[in-house]
Amino acid sequence: MNDRPILRMPDRRLRSVAAPVGEVTDEIRALADEMLRVMYAAPGRGLAGPQIGEMRRIFVMDCGWKEGAPDPCVMIDPEIVWASPETASCSEGCLSLPGITVAVTRPAAVTLRFTGLDGARHEDAFTGFAAVCVQHERDHLDGILCIDRLDAQTRAAMADVLRRIEGP
Ligand code: NI
Repeated sequence: MNDRPILRMPDRRLRSVAAPVGEVTDEIRALADEMLRVMYAAPGRGLAGPQIGEMRRIFVMDCGWKEGAPDPCVMIDPEIVWASPETASCSEGCLSLPGITVAVTRPAAVTLRFTGLDGARHEDAFTGFAAVCVQHERDHLDGILCIDRLDAQTRAAMADVLRRIEGP
């Protein structure tokens, strides 16, 4: 089967809550491979299941490959179990929102609990751009996009653009 295309807004699947994966089967390992291929080809640094219409709680990311240090990660049934009180603002784009870049303020560091491809639960701490990526991709699993994380002033200034993104 060919790799699936990346869905773009206003596709409603991007606004839906994804279902837990549970056990890591061969099918899930094949899905993770497909998602990594689609992400690298895009080219992007993160991709969540719903972005290719796979409504399950899985995302892939690789924050450093564009700088020459590939580190593919697969996170299944991820939960953010800690977020720092300190926040940081970062410019974010999304493969499902081509041409849109927004400044988003989020916790500067997070701890993520997730199932790896080995089937075991893991817990990892993330800071810097990796923390941004983890939170952005985790949001996709609940139908939340980076444009939902804007402050009120930016939201108001971008009202027309946001309406167009959401579609009819
Ligand atoms: Ni995204």
